[in-house]
Amino acid sequence: MCGIIGYVGPRVAREVVVAGLRRMEYRGYDSAGVAVIDDGKIELRKKAGKIGNLEAELQRDPLSDTEIGIGHTRWATHGGPTDENAHPHISANGKVAVIHNGIIENFAALREELETVGVPFQSGTDTEVVAQLLGREVEAGADLAAAMRTICKLLEGAFTLVAIDVTQPDRLVAARRDSPLVVGVGTDENFVASDVAAFIEFTRSAIELGQDQVVDVNRELITITDFAGNPATGKHYQVTWDLSAAEKAGYDWFMRKEIFEQPRAVADTLLGRHGEDGALKLDALHIPESHLRTVDKIIVVACGTAYYAGLVAKYAIEHWTRIAVEVEIASEFRYRDPIITGRTLVVTISQSGETADTLMAIRHAREQGARIVAICNTNGSTIPRESDAVIYTHAGPEIGVASTKGFITQVTACYLLGLYLAQIRNTMFGDEIAQVMNSLTAAPPLIQKVLDTLEPIKDLARTLLGKPSFLFLGRHVGFPIALEGALKLKEIAYVHAEGFAAGELKHGPIALVDEGVPVFVIVPPRSREQLHSKVVSNIQEVRARGAVTVVLAEDGDDEVVPYADFLFRLPKVPTILQPLVSVVPLQYFACELATLLGYDVDQPRNLAKSVTVE
Ligand code: M6R
Repeated sequence: MCGIIGYVGPRVAREVVVAGLRRMEYRGYDSAGVAVIDDGKIELRKKAGKIGNLEAELQRDPLSDTEIGIGHTRWATHGGPTDENAHPHISANGKVAVIHNGIIENFAALREELETVGVPFQSGTDTEVVAQLLGREVEAGADLAAAMRTICKLLEGAFTLVAIDVTQPDRLVAARRDSPLVVGVGTDENFVASDVAAFIEFTRSAIELGQDQVVDVNRELITITDFAGNPATGKHYQVTWDLSAAEKAGYDWFMRKEIFEQPRAVADTLLGRHGEDGALKLDALHIPESHLRTVDKIIVVACGTAYYAGLVAKYAIEHWTRIAVEVEIASEFRYRDPIITGRTLVVTISQSGETADTLMAIRHAREQGARIVAICNTNGSTIPRESDAVIYTHAGPEIGVASTKGFITQVTACYLLGLYLAQIRNTMFGDEIAQVMNSLTAAPPLIQKVLDTLEPIKDLARTLLGKPSFLFLGRHVGFPIALEGALKLKEIAYVHAEGFAAGELKHGPIALVDEGVPVFVIVPPRSREQLHSKVVSNIQEVRARGAVTVVLAEDGDDEVVPYADFLFRLPKVPTILQPLVSVVPLQYFACELATLLGYDVDQPRNLAKSVTVE
């Protein structure tokens, strides 16, 4: 949600800031704005809509060349996506400009107090109260960092704030609680941002701020304190990827690029997981084996696509370890009073590591005594930091709002976790684990094979263009893939789509099947005979009612041929690993359909990449 950047240094600040906003536009694109300080005054440009609108405004009415600037790209929460509500917000006395990511939950009460003493407001945002509070502190003579610490104590909710002050025009002051903030450390220049992508062009040296910290940044110095003013430290790290990973590399969409990166992403997630003795190792799993042997229940908590990865995990982990696995939508978890004990292992899955619903769910689980394992793609983000252990999915930056390589690597990491638990609990023999690991290691070239045969999906998208509704069916691990196929289509092509467990069809959803309704069916491998034959019957059932059947079945499966209006061949893989190949054509179909419909695939309406509000 919302991308924020601040820059101080010798470059033209507005250029650095706008370039950073471009790289963070995936975080929100309802409006964008930039503020700089020139000649004792704040200069501000902000516009509703995507960053292109702001750039046009900057062309029409340029900002001065300055050495300090802040910028914001917004996903609207309080106040509609208008010019007035766009950030930065300036205090009524014109002294301070502020950008914000998150929600100030007590803004209404704070605003009322300020209005009672005559402070005028310009916008309908929660953020403006921060600008007004800081403006008053600074007016009363407070140093900007001290002012930030004072007002942070008044705020409830989640926030990352960055402020500049006309009376101290060489510094940026930022604060964070439950919302991301990283400092980019340059030479004679420094950056603050929601995401390293914003400054990766200039530096790969970063400091991740901790919870409830304030950072005071000028060209040379970075000073971190807690909200009480005590010296504090952040976590210094080097970003392992470079600018090219954050760019489209000739693809029309980040999503398409990320679909094609999947073989490498899976290979990287698997890399280095074997110890010298051949046993599986998960280095960052800092929970003692003795504890993992006592676990009697696993609860997976996640949202959206990550939740579907969790559903795949259930099939694999239960089968391999015989531990009961529950999979929960994170936003529902803590409100239903879940049964958690010290023997419960909570596995949380999040690409961004920032999803507020997921974060709150793991905090709740921790309070109840559970240990937490995070499966996450974003190094140093909040969720892994608040977990007992982490398995990083080395997918590289995922920028398309619709998750693709994020999902496939989450599934891969879940397999690794399941096999590791099976190894230490002796629920599988070593050679059985090795066999699955061999199949996993063989998966990247097979995913590549799927990518090499996607051309007919383009024709399929053209054929099905204009259909108002799509259904997706699967059984076993094919069921979460059906849900994921439908979600991809809803998210980026804005068409009605639903995924079902194929066996549920006859219990209601089959009433939706009509002449010409496209039904995608993920067929399990023939080696799972019963499962396979049931799904083949399901295809016949929908076809008999006039559906257009799009069948995804493994190479050599001839039984499905008579019932498939369109047949896509999948490479042969063991049943449990089939999601790694079956999800790819569904991702590509959604991308193609949305492209044909003329939509912005990477920035679908109403969505943002990291959902940092509950
Ligand atoms: O960053 P996370 O994995 O925690 O995000 C969870 C969901 O918001 C995310 O998967 C969302 O559903 C995607 N846009 C789906 O493509």
